[in-house]
Amino acid sequence: MDFYNDTTLRKYKFEVPEIIFGRGMLSQVGLCARRLGGRKIFLVSDKGLFNAGWVDLVMRSLVEAGLEFVYFDGITNNPKDLEVALGAREYLRLGADVIVGLGGGSCLDAAKAIAILAANGGSIRDYSGSDRIIRPLPPLVLCPTTCGTGSDVSQFAMITDTEHHCKMTLMSRCIAPDISLTDPDTLATLPHEYVGTSAADALSHALESVFSIASTTLTDVHAFKALRLLSASLPRAVQEHRPDDLENLARASLHSGMAFSNSMLGIVHALAHPIGGLYDASHGSINAVLLPEVVRYELPVVTDKLQELAWGLGHRSNGDINAAGDKIQETLDALLEASEAPRSLRSIGVLHKDLPELAQRSLKDISLTTSPRDADHADLLSILEKVY
Ligand SMILES: [Fe+2]
Repeated sequence: MDFYNDTTLRKYKFEVPEIIFGRGMLSQVGLCARRLGGRKIFLVSDKGLFNAGWVDLVMRSLVEAGLEFVYFDGITNNPKDLEVALGAREYLRLGADVIVGLGGGSCLDAAKAIAILAANGGSIRDYSGSDRIIRPLPPLVLCPTTCGTGSDVSQFAMITDTEHHCKMTLMSRCIAPDISLTDPDTLATLPHEYVGTSAADALSHALESVFSIASTTLTDVHAFKALRLLSASLPRAVQEHRPDDLENLARASLHSGMAFSNSMLGIVHALAHPIGGLYDASHGSINAVLLPEVVRYELPVVTDKLQELAWGLGHRSNGDINAAGDKIQETLDALLEASEAPRSLRSIGVLHKDLPELAQRSLKDISLTTSPRDADHADLLSILEKVY
């Protein structure tokens, strides 16, 4: 099948926020918040970014724009329901009107969840699933400081249900922010291990987007662009931290985020979410472990995309589908090795006895609905066993 001329894929929509990208652009946050009608800004970030000086830069930008602000940093990795409930109470108590999120995926997802609760009330569990948000949210400006989340452009947020030790997926057009603002300079202070693991997350977003049954020409444009940037810059960015390579990773994160927000994901994320919920492990690390085996599982049913994908990863195609599949797997392995991310579930603390339960929970994950290949409990468990 000629993918780009496939007439079955002609009906689709593509949603993205306003996007601001560039080194030094974090100083523009104040103007962005004012443009959205803000007077008192609720700034959500974390202690690492505070210590690195980025929170201070944003605060100064808010002051220079003539805005008041309150600062909230009560968020941890894999943000929890109780933390976002506290954030929403503070937002309402202090009379804020625009939310700025500055950080990795945890911070940005938390900012979205705080916005949901502040406008709609109740418990964040009430909004788990697709399109369950009724009232419009406060304006959101999201500024990613890792190179993998995609939360700054996506229609998703993941929040941990602390009672059931699982991650909830909140999905709605209205939680995509008003403005996504990426300043690649922030990657200069990202701890070394997070450069590789968050890039592995971007890699999994791009690949799952290409393989998704909801992918379109528009999502493919962005997914393939992300793959080319990651192929070119991931190894050197991890090794040498050169600004140009880090900027390419930030750009790859943005492109893969736009892709997956509109195509959704697949088995990697369906398996990663329950693992992250149960073990509080790094999302990028989990994806790095799962990605090669999931790609191996899916390759037989995505043969129409393999030539394009091999090209996206920097290989010349000779028309041989099997050779393209081999090249894709080799390149993935090389990129994940270069990312220095963990390569087994055991190494990130997963207990073998939990694998059947993790496979069971994955069956309910919304990401499974766009996987190109069906997977039942036995299939998912087999993947987990192979990467244990
Ligand atoms: Fe992800």
